[in-house]
Amino acid sequence: MEKKNKLLNIEEIHTYYGESHVIQGLSLHVDESEAVSILGRNGVGKTTTLRSVMGLTPPRSGRISIDGKDTTKLPAHKVSKLGVAYVPAERHIFPGLNVEENLKLAARPANGHKSWTLERVYDQFPVLSDRTKQDGATLSGGEQQMLAIGRALISNPKIIILDEPSQGLSPLLVNAVTECIQNFCVNSGITLLVVEQNYRMALKVAGRHYLMGTKGQIAGVATTAELVGNPQIIQDHLAV
Ligand SMILES: Nc1ncnc2c1ncn2[C@@H]1O[C@H](COP(=O)(O)OP(=O)(O)OP(=O)(O)O)[C@@H](O)[C@H]1O
Ligand SMILES: [Mg+2]
Repeated sequence: MEKKNKLLNIEEIHTYYGESHVIQGLSLHVDESEAVSILGRNGVGKTTTLRSVMGLTPPRSGRISIDGKDTTKLPAHKVSKLGVAYVPAERHIFPGLNVEENLKLAARPANGHKSWTLERVYDQFPVLSDRTKQDGATLSGGEQQMLAIGRALISNPKIIILDEPSQGLSPLLVNAVTECIQNFCVNSGITLLVVEQNYRMALKVAGRHYLMGTKGQIAGVATTAELVGNPQIIQDHLAV
């Protein structure tokens, strides 16, 4: 079998906030064109794992590489330049800028015919194309999530990292955002790492799932088929 390229590889990282040892030896990887989720209870360290990858809260030990390049000690802007688009749970829409300005500010050229352009983002998110001149900060929660994802796409990254895209959305909007993520993953074969408490959404958008235990360690890993076939795994793992 052809050996897959580990686009993101996290090896045995330990991450702290001051004295607080939050991530205690975590390893995981995401292959090129793969969509992977991290599932875990509140406060186990999911966001901290993403912040470690982004260089926002760098690990004190262990190793992180992106497309074979060691990024463990790189600051966030350099990690982002290597082609990592991070959409935090708070979305960080630029206030005072309209939808189009938000998108244009994030746009980066890509080589290849399937690159993301303004037109392609509007095509994918018709909601945004109806609101190009609206201040990003006045969009609804679901619209802001779509804008945040659109901004990630238009930067033409190697990998998109989403922290709880369903957070704060009504069930209807969760479905809409889920469909968008499914569409752009399937259509463009983009590499995705997503953190979700909404495991139904995670099962729809990712094919492989890491179950995070306390102390930010990986307690298990399973494919979507395995979790659908044995929902008890999720219950045991995520029930409070
Ligand atoms: N800036 C910080 N300073 C100190 N401790 C923090 C900080 N941010 C997070 N923590 C702590 O680190 C632990 C992991 O937090 P983290 O936000 O990574 O969890 P999470 O799995 O993303 O949780 P949630 O599901 O609620 O988003 C928690 O105990 C949290 O209180
Ligand atoms: Mg979190």
